[in-house]
Amino acid sequence: AGGGEQHIEDFQFSFEGPFGTYDQNQLQRGLQVYTEVCAACHGLKYVPLRTLGDEGGIGWTGDQVRAYASETFTVYDPELEDDRPAIPTDHFPANTAAGAPDLSMMAKARAGFHGPYGLGINQLFKGIGGAEYIASLLTGYTGHEKEEAGSILYENTAFPGGWISMAPPLSDEQVEFADGHANDLHHMAADVSAFLMWAAEPKMMARKQAGLVGVIFLTILASMLYLTNKRLWAPHK
Ligand code: HEM
Repeated sequence: AGGGEQHIEDFQFSFEGPFGTYDQNQLQRGLQVYTEVCAACHGLKYVPLRTLGDEGGIGWTGDQVRAYASETFTVYDPELEDDRPAIPTDHFPANTAAGAPDLSMMAKARAGFHGPYGLGINQLFKGIGGAEYIASLLTGYTGHEKEEAGSILYENTAFPGGWISMAPPLSDEQVEFADGHANDLHHMAADVSAFLMWAAEPKMMARKQAGLVGVIFLTILASMLYLTNKRLWAPHK
């Protein structure tokens, strides 16, 4: 650890591979972890609250989205010139803590797997690994700290360079799930990372479906063109 050798654990996520889909229950747990823990510092300002009702994601009903929005966040309304409870057409709030990056795109902004030597073979087999990177970051604290230029840095085996200014945000049993799902650090780290993957790519399932239809269509088209070509040229052979 430290000194730059990065360790990213290869988590098995349900959304991996050409047929992978988001696990709705996992996304809901991840949203809960984000709300109760990460939202204290990190915003999700590009994510509209209404998308919590989209199919293929969190999948809440309109009432659930409205209740979550108004009970969880207040936003400043320039028309009222005052704060009011959030409504589904608002976005998640922006960052509150200085230095904590917005997490809307984080799962796509970071890669967990690289190389070898810039070839990207690891990404071909394991995926880009943005969600793995976040999960490994949350579980990668060694417990060592140091003070540098007046700020405290925490040793982390996933963070490039090995020292991060974010204190370990998650620990075992910090969040209690209504369905009693496992809430050790490792599980919660995977859940919140899956949620952040969804936040960064909410249409992943639609994209994979369209891609599959496209491949099937092109396969049929290609074989018909081949046969047409054969028949057209047959008399001239
Ligand atoms: C950075 C995730 C909670 C403060 C980050 C990064 C991620 C992340 C992915 C970016 C690392 C990078 O640049 O590669 C999370 C998650 C949280 C959480 C998933 C909840 C489980 C918190 C909390 C705070 C915080 C509660 C404030 C007390 C910061 C700061 C940075 C950061 C200051 C910048 C660190 C640096 O660049 O050295 N976080 N975070 N985070 N986070 Fe968090």
